[in-house]
Amino acid sequence: MVSAPQSVQRPNGPAVPIAEVPEAGRPPRSTGSQEVDRVTNGGFVAGSLTLLAGEPGVGKSTLALQLAAQAAQRGQRALYLSAEESPAQVQQRAKRLGALCPDLWLAGANDVDTIVAEIARLEPGFVIVDSIQTVAVAEVAATAGSVTQVRASALRLADAARAHDCAILLIGHVTKDGSLAGPRQLEHLVDTVLNFEGDRHHALRLLRAVKHRFGPTSELGLFEMVQGGLVDVEDASGLLLADRRPGAAGSVVFPMVDGQRPLLVELQSLVVSGSGSGGARRSVEGVDGGRLALLLAVLGRVFELPVLSAEVYCLAAGGVTVHDPGADLALACAVVSSLTGKAVPSDTVICGEVGLGGEVRTVRHAERRLAEAVRAGFRRAVVPATSPDIAGLSLTRVGTVGEALLAIGMGGPRPVRAPGTAEGVTDRRQPAAG
Ligand code: TYD
Ligand code: MG
Repeated sequence: MVSAPQSVQRPNGPAVPIAEVPEAGRPPRSTGSQEVDRVTNGGFVAGSLTLLAGEPGVGKSTLALQLAAQAAQRGQRALYLSAEESPAQVQQRAKRLGALCPDLWLAGANDVDTIVAEIARLEPGFVIVDSIQTVAVAEVAATAGSVTQVRASALRLADAARAHDCAILLIGHVTKDGSLAGPRQLEHLVDTVLNFEGDRHHALRLLRAVKHRFGPTSELGLFEMVQGGLVDVEDASGLLLADRRPGAAGSVVFPMVDGQRPLLVELQSLVVSGSGSGGARRSVEGVDGGRLALLLAVLGRVFELPVLSAEVYCLAAGGVTVHDPGADLALACAVVSSLTGKAVPSDTVICGEVGLGGEVRTVRHAERRLAEAVRAGFRRAVVPATSPDIAGLSLTRVGTVGEALLAIGMGGPRPVRAPGTAEGVTDRRQPAAG
């Protein structure tokens, strides 16, 4: 029987005054990974269903196997059901990861009834199904991976999680544009959705909860993919800035906040001036192409910089994706730095949101960002006018992009020449009256 989508134990009952509602029963169980515990608000809850979604190759099976091994080492029986890889392949990986624990059980299974029977037989506390797109409920006449089959399988597994009081982690593949039907259709059927992100050519991996019935979704977990699997990362800024070449034009360090977590990211820009023919090429990686277009329009129209017809490439180094609007000013400075060939001082971080008039707006969590910059050894920051003082950092508060460019030695009200052009930086706006 496939029941309605429900989370952990939710019977019908009489209404009671809100203050007298009994507290939610089950505490989460620590996973042994500080980073996973951070994102899940303490670990996985017995009876719950979690989806771990990510692109192929990002490391979902690796993370899941490590979590299963840690559960087994911490006295909780774990069961890993692999429909994608043979048990021998999973065992091979487990050897590499040092995950051959006595109470970690492994089966190749793509039939949901078989999976449920194994759960009933072994009574594990933690179960992995790898992946939800490759298992199927036999009596549902749809192929594995179809929306119908993925939903039917997830509902059956949700019932099993409740009936056998175990936490089940479903692995789901999503494609780069997030479009694959299966996992997205699952989001409202599961208690928790964890997204696992990162560029497979880089070591950093980011874990975030995009839905969580048992806690906030604002925490970010960070891992490094190494030979021995995924390891928790404490100093992500150090990892991200390791390859930076201080003094290179077009490079700016941006103190970003993702969820609650501060991270220093290097933004890079390369401007190839004057291709002339309209429709100049723009290419971004890890930064928002729409924001870049807006910034180029501001730099071109408000500050008369020759960027509108230039080819512009921008990226966030290290495989990070920047969703933070506070990156605007840093990105604009990176573009101008590349355009002028002048490096931004290497001890300086830059943040601020930019408006269409070229004004610099306040960013959230300014203290947290700047504290991380101090911790990582930066000495100066170019920030919005409202930013608070912080010990160890010399702040230049700016109200416009032009003031920021002046602060990093690239002109502002006074024009600077871009190499090979007759144009430079000017601020066309009139000074405020009075
Ligand atoms: P995998 O967990 O198979 O990804 P997914 O299940 O999301 O498709 O891991 C994919 C990559 O991780 C693989 O290409 C190799 C790399 N990897 C390591 O670098 N170190 C390791 O210890 C392991 C197990 C994998
Ligand atoms: Mg896998």
